[in-house]
Amino acid sequence: MTQRTAKLLLDEHRAAIELPVLRGTLGPDVVDTRALGKHGVFTYDPGFIATASCASSITFIDGDAGLLYYRGYPIEQLAEQADFLEVVYLLWHGELPTAEQKLEFDNLVTYHTMLHDQMLSLYKGFRRDAHPMAVMVSIIGAMAAFYPENANVADPHQREIAMFRLLAKTPTVAAWSYKYNRGEPFMYPQNRLGYTANFLHMLHATPCESYEPNPVLVRALDRIFILHADHEQNASTSTVRMAGSSYANPFACISAGIACLWGPLHGGANEAVLKMLEEIGDVSKVGELVKKAKDRNNPFRLMGFGHRVYKNMDPRAAIMRQTCHDVLGELGLHDDPMFKTALELERIALEDDYFIEKKLYPNVDFYSGIVLKALGIPTSMFTAIFALARTAGWIAQWNEMVSDHAHRIARPRQLYAGPGRREFVPLDQRG
Ligand code: CMC
Repeated sequence: MTQRTAKLLLDEHRAAIELPVLRGTLGPDVVDTRALGKHGVFTYDPGFIATASCASSITFIDGDAGLLYYRGYPIEQLAEQADFLEVVYLLWHGELPTAEQKLEFDNLVTYHTMLHDQMLSLYKGFRRDAHPMAVMVSIIGAMAAFYPENANVADPHQREIAMFRLLAKTPTVAAWSYKYNRGEPFMYPQNRLGYTANFLHMLHATPCESYEPNPVLVRALDRIFILHADHEQNASTSTVRMAGSSYANPFACISAGIACLWGPLHGGANEAVLKMLEEIGDVSKVGELVKKAKDRNNPFRLMGFGHRVYKNMDPRAAIMRQTCHDVLGELGLHDDPMFKTALELERIALEDDYFIEKKLYPNVDFYSGIVLKALGIPTSMFTAIFALARTAGWIAQWNEMVSDHAHRIARPRQLYAGPGRREFVPLDQRG
């Protein structure tokens, strides 16, 4: 097949620059602009509105059609039929595991969940009210000091060990940040429990009181993990790739991803949604809030609405909406005022011209906060749970990048908008 090209005419007196057009397996074609630098120009796309930052075989999103695939499998099928670790195996290896591979994978994760004992001292340096995300950024980053051998990212074996350490220990790191907030003793992982049940155990059990996880609630949380596991080149994943592009230590790279995820426009949205619903307080006030969100002179936004890529219903939101009903039904909370407020907000926004025109639909975080609250998880832990789940995807994306022999350090260029050259004026001569 002949190579398709795009022509860029920079100046009518010069010949057009021909740029190859690359075709992926799915999704839009991509104009390969790498050669432009030789012609003395760069592309300008702050916020990466129309820029593919890399080639990846892990996750595919069609935002207009509302599709999300992990390694080709629709998210609906995975959320319905797989468990989280099965999905992680798929993200990392590209194929679903056989029963034997799954058992081996689950065992490896289970037996690496404990933290190095010295890490306890790190926790104790924090104020008791430290936000769990602040603790996670630090403790995950600090793991680089505990496992220095994993810094050798050129060695696939060291990379693999780091991947298992990160996946297995992140739930412990997250659960302990909550225990520390509460002033309760840290609960050690239990090898008899699965990944998700174990996390709930470390969160809710105390040395005086065991915690028997309800299978419906474990399944709901497992589904939240699956839905958040990867989402192609979002801000935090791109941050992990950017940090990892210098072959930095993997623990430092994931810590950078956690830092980026924390923001309210990204992973912090689930916490922000719940705070917003709490503030509304009453179904009758929903209209007022929608009006505020539409006011161009007011920076307020409805948290949990809109997405850079989805211009249709976020498929994860549709699944999470159903999970929300299941969990509230199981717990007899269908009349929960917050859930009623959320449904009313969803109804009004979906019928409103402003939201229809701008294609603003509820996103996954609109519902996940309600489910997490029903599971007895405190609001401050919501983003930490997103980070825990997304660690699986960050690791897959990091490993894909580092193992690519054609890899180069990420080094964006800029459109310089500052002053031109000027001469230094000594302090005593400045007016
Ligand atoms: N409420 C009211 N107006 C909105 C909202 C909202 N939630 N989101 C976007 N808009 C408006 C925005 O004001 C802009 O209007 P105009 O064209 O008049 O200037 C237009 O819609 C396009 O918005 P944008 O900011 O250019 O879109 P973006 O792609 O840069 O931002 C977003 C995407 C998710 C940051 C944004 O929709 C938002 O701030 N949403 C609320 C936060 C949120 O729920 N974030 C979670 C995202 S899903 C989880 C994840 O993947 O991290």
